[in-house]
Amino acid sequence: MTSLDIRPAVHAPSAPDAEWWRHAVIYQVYPRSFADASGDGIGDLAGITARLPHLVELGVDAVWLSPFYLSPQADAGYDVADYRQVDPLFGTLDDFDAMLTRAHDLGLRVIVDLVPNHTSDEHVWFQAALEAGIGSAERDRYLFREGRGESGELPPNNWESIFGGPAWTRLADGQWYLHLFDSRQPDLNWEHPEVRAEFEDVLRFWLDRGVDGFRVDVAHGMVKEPGLPDWDGHVSMIEGTDDEDVANGSGNHGPMFDQDGVHEIYRAWHRVLADYAGDRALVAEAWVEPLSRLARYVRPDEMQQAFNFAFLATRWDAPALRSVIEASYATADSVGAPTTWVLSNHDVVRHASRLGLADAGSRPNGIGVGDEQPDEALGLRRARGATLLMLGLPGSAYLYQGEELGLPDHTALPDELRQDPAFFRTGGVERGRDGCRVPLPWSSDEPGLGFSPTGLTWLPQPSSWAAYALDAQRGVAGSTYEIYRSTLGLRRSHELGTGGLEWADGYGDDVIAFTNRDVLVVANLGATPVPLPVGATVLASSVEVTGHEVPGDATVWLQVQTA
Ligand code: GLC
Repeated sequence: MTSLDIRPAVHAPSAPDAEWWRHAVIYQVYPRSFADASGDGIGDLAGITARLPHLVELGVDAVWLSPFYLSPQADAGYDVADYRQVDPLFGTLDDFDAMLTRAHDLGLRVIVDLVPNHTSDEHVWFQAALEAGIGSAERDRYLFREGRGESGELPPNNWESIFGGPAWTRLADGQWYLHLFDSRQPDLNWEHPEVRAEFEDVLRFWLDRGVDGFRVDVAHGMVKEPGLPDWDGHVSMIEGTDDEDVANGSGNHGPMFDQDGVHEIYRAWHRVLADYAGDRALVAEAWVEPLSRLARYVRPDEMQQAFNFAFLATRWDAPALRSVIEASYATADSVGAPTTWVLSNHDVVRHASRLGLADAGSRPNGIGVGDEQPDEALGLRRARGATLLMLGLPGSAYLYQGEELGLPDHTALPDELRQDPAFFRTGGVERGRDGCRVPLPWSSDEPGLGFSPTGLTWLPQPSSWAAYALDAQRGVAGSTYEIYRSTLGLRRSHELGTGGLEWADGYGDDVIAFTNRDVLVVANLGATPVPLPVGATVLASSVEVTGHEVPGDATVWLQVQTA
């Protein structure tokens, strides 16, 4: 029990019977790297089904699966050739149904990925558009345009692809088509009624099978400014959001992003989901700033959640994180939405590596062997501190597979093994995202660290990873896995997800301290230990706490008495 100097509430608790998506901890499964049952070195749906008990033991509420649909895998499945089929790499629709049934039996909800901004170049619509030729109705489902210059030899505008190079590719017949990502990911024309109808149908297809919701890929990109005007800004989903952008709102604002027209689509999708029982949810992947723009995606008649990348993008700096946390609640609360928290995903360097860089929390697009290497021990220590800070916050939180093991990125992948199109389209200037997509280590002394029965892994695992394997941490007090597990349990039993937040003062500038229900969270981002309140009972801590202080780069949860 401890006395506290508490300031007014930053965020009030939600109703105890709030919908699940207001407080859920959602675990991202990246199917190709989670668990491989078939033995080909690429993870699959049967592998996921077999490992679902791990997620129950860990204590998460839901799973989000990155794409497993039919795809030539030009962007690891974010190039969908058929939205209603499972790629043979990952199994069959029956495997999906079996996975979903098992997850539901285990009490886990399941969200799937929807990729509506673009299709694969192998999608029947794009193939038909190629065949039908200039001026055809088939081309109208995409963004085909004539080029500029005397004979149309210049692209229709100056937009760049987010993966590097021009955002336009020219066909042999002279027309150009737009692709904000890889040339094998042509952008759809969302002004076309057939495109809208098709995606509503795709939503129903998966809702009918029983999914609990959708993560919407590039949710800020589908509608473009009419006339597709030139733009001199720099497009990057990965780098576009940083502390400065968050502060002054100078991030992704081109004519290809965050157009008002996208909201009409989400209002329509909201109505589709509302036809189904069971609080189905949409979560926006929208890299927009400032946070007030993000709030527009989660207005009461649109999506239920949006990823809060402003938090992920903020450096390891207490005042900066405090102000992002405050802004996150202010904007989400203004529309009655929950905020979300996320530190890692399949597009960014894992937080255990980002926080081990000299500029802690900066966000390189991948780390290669020639780059500054993170301090692995320091990165892990801070990552655990950051996670305990995040899990103490009310709202919904996302975990990326393997962070419960404290995994760092593979920061020394040989270039010849890289697969991310961003690496190739930037001529290697950006190392790309392969380093955070390496197959998980399940058992320390099996080939491929237990990822696959044959020992094959589609990317090699770093040699340090045996020590991170699940079996090396399970049941080991103080391991990252056990810390995640106990903290998730406490978050649930203390109902922190639906709790409120009040800052606790008096800990100094390097500290983020707040109460959420009967828990005081003290995150010390500085180097100097911070004394704990006298008589405080420690509930959880990111490092071993000896004596009555929170060491540097660590977070502690304490029990407080509520009135
Ligand atoms: C999203 C995905 C990313 C993908 C891109 C294009 O940002 O998270 O992995 O490459 O969209 O679909």
